[in-house]
Amino acid sequence: METIFSTADLRPVVAQWRRRGERIAFVPTMGNLHDGHLSLLQRANELADRTIVSIFVNPIQFGQGEDYAKYPSTLQSDQEKLARCGLDVLFAPNLRDLYPGGTEEDTRVTVPGLSTILCGEFRPGHFSGVATVVTKLFFSVQPDCALFGEKDLQQLKVIRRMVDDLCIPIEIIGRPIIREADGLAMSSRNGYLSAAERSLAPKIHQNLLAARAAILEGKQAFRSIENNAIASLREAGFKPEYFSIRRTADLEEANEADNDLSILVAAWLGKARLIDNVQVNADGD
Ligand code: PAF
Repeated sequence: METIFSTADLRPVVAQWRRRGERIAFVPTMGNLHDGHLSLLQRANELADRTIVSIFVNPIQFGQGEDYAKYPSTLQSDQEKLARCGLDVLFAPNLRDLYPGGTEEDTRVTVPGLSTILCGEFRPGHFSGVATVVTKLFFSVQPDCALFGEKDLQQLKVIRRMVDDLCIPIEIIGRPIIREADGLAMSSRNGYLSAAERSLAPKIHQNLLAARAAILEGKQAFRSIENNAIASLREAGFKPEYFSIRRTADLEEANEADNDLSILVAAWLGKARLIDNVQVNADGD
């Protein structure tokens, strides 16, 4: 595995692969890698001849007062994990490489609608930051396909829409959430949890499963299922931002006539903002 620090150095490598007709898969990350990232990488290796992983902590997707400054920077241990995974290139650009004119007045990519609901309501500008950096990374890497985890379901939807709207010829592949044995979705931010918080954290997933069971039972109104979950999380010590039953297709609020549903949650536990989701087919699947 080669580590490349700039787009200028990456381009000739990718160009050579392209001349040979090799298929390139891309996994963008912010580092501090866990098994969720490694499962994306494993799938990328299966799908393509060449795999590139990027590590870049993108300042413009963090709001004021969020954890950009303390986001764990673990390049060396990430490199060690990646070296065992059979990828070709770790792309670790610096800020100047991706934001040559600085981050204040650069060009932004914004996906309307989807970016302002759910997490977008609580993190204004977040998804524009994500869409912008992913576009830049796509132009640097020029992959055939890119893989994203479904834990960030809204992010996945924003990127799919962006790629469709801008006619970017890259296949976007979503991959299932990887969970700890007790159900907690793996996340780089789980490291912010104290031991006591860590033992409470699976309640997020438990509440999602209870909501799914209630939907399938069909006796309770969706808004009452959501309110019960929010009350249950508050009682356990979380500060929920939302717990919401949505249509999977567009993440708009669902009602009892909809079948293909996603239940999404974001809640603070101590210093960690945890997000998670489950899918439900209200037809009874
Ligand atoms: O999901 C992430 O880690 C980030 O949002 C991404 C897609 C790498 C963009 O910075």
